[in-house]
Amino acid sequence: MTPNTNYRNLKDSYLFAGIAKKTRAYLDANPGAHLYRMGIGDVSLPLCGAVIEELHRAVDDQAQKSTFHGYMPEVGADFLREAIAAYYKTHGVTLSPDEVFVSSGASDELGDILDIFGRDKTVMIMEPAYPAYVDANIIAGNTVIRLAAGEENGFLPMPHEIPTEKYGAADIIYICSPNNPTGAVFSAAALKQWIDYANETDAVIIFDAAYEAFIEEDGIPHSIYELDGADTCAIEICSLSKTAGFTGTRCGYTVIPNALERGGMNFNRMWVRNRTTKTNGVSYIIQRGAAAVFTERGQKEIREAIAVYKQNAKVLMEALDAVNITYFGGKNAPYLWMKCPDNMGSWEFFDKLLNQIQVVGTPGEGFGACGEGYFRFSTFGSPEDTAEAAKRLKMLLG
Ligand code: MLT
Repeated sequence: MTPNTNYRNLKDSYLFAGIAKKTRAYLDANPGAHLYRMGIGDVSLPLCGAVIEELHRAVDDQAQKSTFHGYMPEVGADFLREAIAAYYKTHGVTLSPDEVFVSSGASDELGDILDIFGRDKTVMIMEPAYPAYVDANIIAGNTVIRLAAGEENGFLPMPHEIPTEKYGAADIIYICSPNNPTGAVFSAAALKQWIDYANETDAVIIFDAAYEAFIEEDGIPHSIYELDGADTCAIEICSLSKTAGFTGTRCGYTVIPNALERGGMNFNRMWVRNRTTKTNGVSYIIQRGAAAVFTERGQKEIREAIAVYKQNAKVLMEALDAVNITYFGGKNAPYLWMKCPDNMGSWEFFDKLLNQIQVVGTPGEGFGACGEGYFRFSTFGSPEDTAEAAKRLKMLLG
């Protein structure tokens, strides 16, 4: 028996597990200390009323023979697939419900989806990046091309920057817009260039739309399918974690258009085959709660929660402005990407904030080498903690 030796190529621990370990060690050494947690993008507000009521109703359904549900369809319940397709319509995208797959969340899908690609693929990842893209591809044994997203290109690399002379064309391209961690967003014109590139080279784009609900500027695509040609080259992965506070409840969705084919094989059919083999779907109760997100009341309530996080972003931005720190994001995304002061390394800055003001953020280096010298704040904390953290930051850096 040979284990998967690709695991040897991973860093010792996953980024957020490493941060959790460091913060635990701090609390062990300083019992009773309060930490201002702005590290992992985990929500602080409870689920909205529309979702909670529907979850309760669904629990009651499971108590009656006449309304009880056993196994759900592996690809998702019709009622939820239809609700998601109707939501896409509000962004001008027409999907058939059978192009929507209900999932347990985006992070699971971003790695699992590699099952439908052949082995030894070349994968293009814009770094800094959500670390799961890189880790999942290392585990799969793929070659990762890192495309630098920095201040020089506005954190938005374009296809002509791919070092094709070194690696040839990319087979798979990960794009996250609004971006985690930088908060940068692709305009329709820039995203269209990636779509054209993928169609010309037969590559497939994995479009991570987990933060689409935070877009506030007009003209920024919420879905890659708003653009012509995306249905023949893109898979879109989305989540209710940040949109509707489902980080602990778990539900997301993946869109694979019927038109997406490579080598005579249909990716939508392949994913049906994969899901029916590898999962028994998301529970009835959770899918009912998820469907409530897409009702009129649900949409109103989730927007109210998002407004709270956006206000947190403003509070943090004001604090960074006051001490002349350069930062990006915060407008169309729930993350602020700041430059570490005095050329500090990002882990060094992490330790300084933890030890001196008890603020926890995420070191930029955790998102790839290009993130060194930067630091990410999540805006998903409570308003009280965010206000206090902003005050402490101003005092420390002022
Ligand atoms: C993050 O902080 O980057 C995300 O919350 C992690 C995740 O979504 O898994």
